[in-house]
Amino acid sequence: MNRILGKDALPEEELVERQLRPQFFREYIGQDKVKNQLEIFIEAAKHRDEALDHVLLFGPPGLGKTTMAFVIANELGSSLKQTSGPAIEKAGDLVAILNDLSPGDVLFIDEIHRLPMAVEEVLYSAMEDFYVDIMIGAGETSRSIHLELPPFTLIGATTRAGMLSNPLRARFGINGHMEYYELADLTEIVERTADIFEVEIAYEAAIELARRSRGTPRIANRLLKRVRDYAQIKGDGSINAHIVSEALALLDVDEEGLDYVDQKILRTMIELYQGGPVGLSTLAINIAEERETVEDMYEPYLIQKGFLMRTKTGRVATPKAYAHLGYAIQEKE
Ligand code: ADE
Repeated sequence: MNRILGKDALPEEELVERQLRPQFFREYIGQDKVKNQLEIFIEAAKHRDEALDHVLLFGPPGLGKTTMAFVIANELGSSLKQTSGPAIEKAGDLVAILNDLSPGDVLFIDEIHRLPMAVEEVLYSAMEDFYVDIMIGAGETSRSIHLELPPFTLIGATTRAGMLSNPLRARFGINGHMEYYELADLTEIVERTADIFEVEIAYEAAIELARRSRGTPRIANRLLKRVRDYAQIKGDGSINAHIVSEALALLDVDEEGLDYVDQKILRTMIELYQGGPVGLSTLAINIAEERETVEDMYEPYLIQKGFLMRTKTGRVATPKAYAHLGYAIQEKE
């Protein structure tokens, strides 16, 4: 489903995202904690003429982990090779990628928690001591080959650090925790994107759009494109707060930035389960999604906004969820 608030990049969006992507820290808005740390570590590594220590970036989808990886490579003056956990099926695939690296290169592995175990094990020695031992042949004729690698920096991205195995997590020297963007930062991102799109947007309109974008630049930029369409057809092409409200109403995005799937999750809990506790699997079945999708894409924002709570016995809708969706709070028997 191409959900307007979905956080996975759609194929045609990848091109747009590349155009919008900041190249250096000075253009990268927000995530100050991660940026400030990295600036120092990068500077120090450059002074010592060493590869930067391996970096693990974690946080919900759409917050700019890939962008951050490219910025790190640019700041290092290195080139970046990009792959992802599910794309590397066999140990040999990873060895081929590693063997192709030049000294100081950055290897970016998105969704690193989805690497097959046999592949992950190859990474351990590569990350720690820059070598791999590979077995070739089978049975009697099999032998092990020792392959030295150039010093490189691995940047791994994951939606949940908890899904990484301990040995892998332990091999990252730098941890970057990406957080939902503050309203002021997201507003600035909306204005920056509007500028690149050469569309006029009033400050109040940029704030309103940012406010409904779940702290997520990918969503803000996606909504901006749809609002731009709306302004072009229903107005004079420029975007004011009124246009934003009308366009987002058309897209079923409410004042809190919840779309119909978020609302359905909360309504299901309230209408069918008296607000919970409800098990994650039950919720997932009710909205016809995978457990992981609910856990990675929908829940974090609902929790952060105080609409949903995770308890030992299951998920619970909060009084704020009842109020927002216009339900009276039910007394439990
Ligand atoms: N576009 C998307 N994310 C951005 C960010 N963090 N800074 C600047 N522009 C962006």
